[in-house]
Amino acid sequence: MSGSEAGEEQRVIAEQMAYYRARAPEYDDWFFRRGDYDHGADWNRRWRAEVDELRQVLDAARPAGRVLELACGTGLWTQRLAPCAAELTCIDASPEVIALNRERVGAEHVEYVCADLFEWRPARRYDFVFFGFWLSHVPAGAFIPFWSMVAQALAPGGRVFFVDSRNHPAGREGGYADWAPAAPPSRSRRRLRDGREFEIVKIFHRPDDLEAQLRTLGWRAVVRGTSTFFLHGVATPDDPTPAVRAAGQSC
Ligand SMILES: C[S@@+](CC[C@H](N)C(=O)[O-])C[C@H]1O[C@@H](n2cnc3c(N)ncnc32)[C@H](O)[C@@H]1O
Repeated sequence: MSGSEAGEEQRVIAEQMAYYRARAPEYDDWFFRRGDYDHGADWNRRWRAEVDELRQVLDAARPAGRVLELACGTGLWTQRLAPCAAELTCIDASPEVIALNRERVGAEHVEYVCADLFEWRPARRYDFVFFGFWLSHVPAGAFIPFWSMVAQALAPGGRVFFVDSRNHPAGREGGYADWAPAAPPSRSRRRLRDGREFEIVKIFHRPDDLEAQLRTLGWRAVVRGTSTFFLHGVATPDDPTPAVRAAGQSC
């Protein structure tokens, strides 16, 4: 990556953090299909059914032990992870969403860390690492370092589980009112209720391509889509030893 490309990536990472800080009070409208995201009973029903499917797949993966949630947001997934976890560490760059998360989940065994995930390094290892609607916001140039950080965070035998958006035309029509295409296609322009606009990263991964990409990085991943809106994946490192060694060095 050239110096100017790296600088441009840093700029959009900073703008993305600013966007989610400003969006904190209205973030949940997207998930609960309220306001601009309400596209009628049929779409809402389909959305809720697919959210239920994600919840079931997550439950079936049996998160347990020491759990790490990256980009935890307002707690929509934290509230599901917390009852299963012996300890739960939640990372997010926005103090505003962390406050909302704390209010929603309010559990003593949940620790919050306000940090930029492109800088943060795990100081310990976890049995289960979860990220919801985060991977699509990782710029292409940060993809390998991000997965390397995740490997460092995993305990031997640990697993990664993620959910994200799927790029389906019906999904766009059905509920992404604030999305507008930006150039390049890995970017999206978002508008808040007060009219402020931000450019962020949005990369729609395709399940097969993502599996293949992760395979080249030494992960065994199974990624599947729900019928319209989402994808979910589980990943384990082929060889946990390098992750263990790397984690040892970073402590
Ligand atoms: C799409 S939201 C997902 C929130 C939550 N996981 C969910 O599914 O509801 C993305 C989250 O990433 C956080 N975020 C954005 N940039 C970040 C960064 N560089 N480091 C850590 N968190 C970041 C935002 O504050 C926001 O909470």
